[in-house]
Amino acid sequence: MIWAEAEGCRVVDTDGREYLDLSAGFGVAALGHRNPKILAAWRAQRVVHALGDLAEAEIAVELRRRLPRPAKLGVTGEDAVEIALRTALLATGKPGILAFEGAYHGTGLLALAATSIDAFRLPFRTWLPGPVYRRRFGEDPGPLPARCGCVIVEPVQARGGAQVPSPDFLRVLRRRCTARGALLIVDAIYAGLGRTGELWPGAEFADVLVVGKALGHGLPISAALFYRDELERVWELGDEDVYTHTHVGNPLACTAALVVLDEVPKLLDRVDAAGERFEREGWHGKGLLRAREGDAGEALRRGVIVIPAGPGGKLISATPPLTITDADLDEAFSLL
Ligand SMILES: Cc1ncc(COP(=O)(O)O)c(C=O)c1O
Repeated sequence: MIWAEAEGCRVVDTDGREYLDLSAGFGVAALGHRNPKILAAWRAQRVVHALGDLAEAEIAVELRRRLPRPAKLGVTGEDAVEIALRTALLATGKPGILAFEGAYHGTGLLALAATSIDAFRLPFRTWLPGPVYRRRFGEDPGPLPARCGCVIVEPVQARGGAQVPSPDFLRVLRRRCTARGALLIVDAIYAGLGRTGELWPGAEFADVLVVGKALGHGLPISAALFYRDELERVWELGDEDVYTHTHVGNPLACTAALVVLDEVPKLLDRVDAAGERFEREGWHGKGLLRAREGDAGEALRRGVIVIPAGPGGKLISATPPLTITDADLDEAFSLL
């Protein structure tokens, strides 16, 4: 299936067939595809590309001001995960990473080391950094190993199949990290920015919280937010930024992020209400990060875009635009 048009919750393929999109393009189009406010913000931008970390665009400075904590910006989600993991190494001097079964943190080598999906990891296992200590998601990992510099966790596992841990899980991890002097990294790349009903899920426990996906609403931008005071200072390593990319702080992505930060808070009640409708239809998860058993290919034949998720891809996941209406939901549920 090739996308020819995407507007709101609807996608039209190159054969002219219309689909109801319950994916939001991996959760990115939180305000709906081609959202008019995002398009207008892009069009109004007076700098389309600046000089990355050397000379930021004004809009990137404005975005930093609007984020709740000091941040190091990245391009992809995986990139923000890499920043967070490197922060832990710089802050603690310890290379060990504690990560969870079912976790997905991205496919660059460092994020991949923390990812648990074998199909992604095994072809590259001889190159993966570590040590990585793997534990059951949702359970107390016990005292952290001595070489463990950080724990990385999704507040709700997304690609793992919309797995919601017990309410106490992050608190337990916080306690384990504090006892060992390790950082707690909360990967809210999928679950954050409103999708599970909160803008910054896990912020009260995190040392570093990472967001991506919906932040740029279709243009790549991510951020590692430093919740522990002064943690950003570990990056003061000389005149040059030693971890950067040509496109870091892309102004079009930054201007979209400002719209997202304005608009998403207005939708949080709607996320809860729409999430309850999924719950009643037998989808587990939280807010608008949902999954249930199903076949994504069959759903597509019925005109609904969902994504395979969970172990062996046996679940279908729904991460629709947060703007999805009750009429769209009625239609999606009846088609499925
Ligand atoms: C929880 C989580 N972390 C990290 C990533 C990686 O983000 P990206 O694909 O933008 O590199 C993803 C992508 O699905 C994700 O779901």
